[in-house]
Amino acid sequence: MSALPHAARSPGRLAIAGGAPVRSPDRPWPTWPQPAPGAAAALAAVLDSGRWAISSPRCGGELYERRFARLFSQYLDVAHCVPVDHGSSALVIALESLGLSHGDVVLVPALTWVATASAVLRAGLVPVLTDVSPETGCIEADGLDLDVDPGAVIVVHWSAVMADVPAITAAVDSRGIVVIEDAAQAHGAQWLGRHAGTIGRLGCFSMQNGKVLTCGEGGAVVTDDEHLAGVLEELRADSRRYRSDEARPGELDLVETATVQGANFCLDEFSAALLCAQLGMLDAQHDIRNRNYARLGELLADVPGVRLLCPLPQQNRISVYEAPIVFDDLPEGRSNRDLADALTAELGVRFYPPREPLDRSHLLRPSTKPALASLAQRFHELHRGRHFPHAERMAGHAVLTHHSTFLGDEEDMVDIAAAVAKVVAANEGGW
Ligand SMILES: Cc1ncc(COP(=O)(O)O)c(C=O)c1O
Repeated sequence: MSALPHAARSPGRLAIAGGAPVRSPDRPWPTWPQPAPGAAAALAAVLDSGRWAISSPRCGGELYERRFARLFSQYLDVAHCVPVDHGSSALVIALESLGLSHGDVVLVPALTWVATASAVLRAGLVPVLTDVSPETGCIEADGLDLDVDPGAVIVVHWSAVMADVPAITAAVDSRGIVVIEDAAQAHGAQWLGRHAGTIGRLGCFSMQNGKVLTCGEGGAVVTDDEHLAGVLEELRADSRRYRSDEARPGELDLVETATVQGANFCLDEFSAALLCAQLGMLDAQHDIRNRNYARLGELLADVPGVRLLCPLPQQNRISVYEAPIVFDDLPEGRSNRDLADALTAELGVRFYPPREPLDRSHLLRPSTKPALASLAQRFHELHRGRHFPHAERMAGHAVLTHHSTFLGDEEDMVDIAAAVAKVVAANEGGW
């Protein structure tokens, strides 16, 4: 089906070079975050409750933190959810819960936000970067370096597509290597009907401001493993876990079980209340984004050398975090950064390249912390001579835009496709 309007094919002068933009600045894009109906009332209820933290004495009814843990585990169909203050904390305690030894190796993707790797260092372990699939941007079973004797693998579901966690698990399980899913970018994504985050031993989520489910700053670890769930509770609440009987007014809900050294990574009650409200909107928003993502895919089929990143066939539902448009053929002399800037100017909403692979990220600098010196040294030793060509290619050919760009309607997708076609067709004079 030829879907793009004819006008979209005429190159014209690019907006970045002073030409008329594809989209009029009068037409705004959906905003983010969007408060759910009931969000303000939930926040006001916490304000008046006299109980702003799970570590404050009992008064009134159930903690919002408990309610969110229940609602999110029901949503994901997983036995246990331990909410935390950040997605990074989720990764730290998930790793700590495994009881690995100081300096053990954990495989992580080369293409991800820095927190996936820095959490490994925070847990006293050494991240070893792994190249990603050129198709999905996620790590795959074939690419795992098991010679470094990893204790765990962190699998990131990247941008809009899921990694093949069952295949990765099959490749490492017999060696006792644990698979942790970093589902910070994948709330609600499904693989053969199973939710991202529930397929590996542990799943970690971020509820930071840009995520599809957000309370500003927040996170959660989920697992079906009852023993690990108890350990995770202690790790995030200064060695305390929830008591099994009901606390009386004035008593704490937490008891000092102290089977493992914890720290304070607790989610506060305002954030938990907000998440309870926001979760109610998540699937309706997925439906809108996924309809638009599919439509943009159809429209881009008309533009040579450009495609949306495609999930593997087993992924039956996507969760768009940052929609990845891949330019297999970059226009002569242009980088994906140039294309992203040109699209931003055409559309009035931000497009940007992916972050650089972590081996050359200036945010991953363990040697700047004296307390990490031995881990940093091992990290540098283990990366000598390692290259990540597929991660480099994705970082150099994809352009991302935030998922809120997909919360509008089909006309928005026509605008994006028209801008992509215009930018790709622009000749030297157009820039
Ligand atoms: C893949 C991935 N892992 C971990 C994190 C860290 O989450 P947080 O910012 O909530 O600590 C993020 C946040 O962007 C992420 O995208």
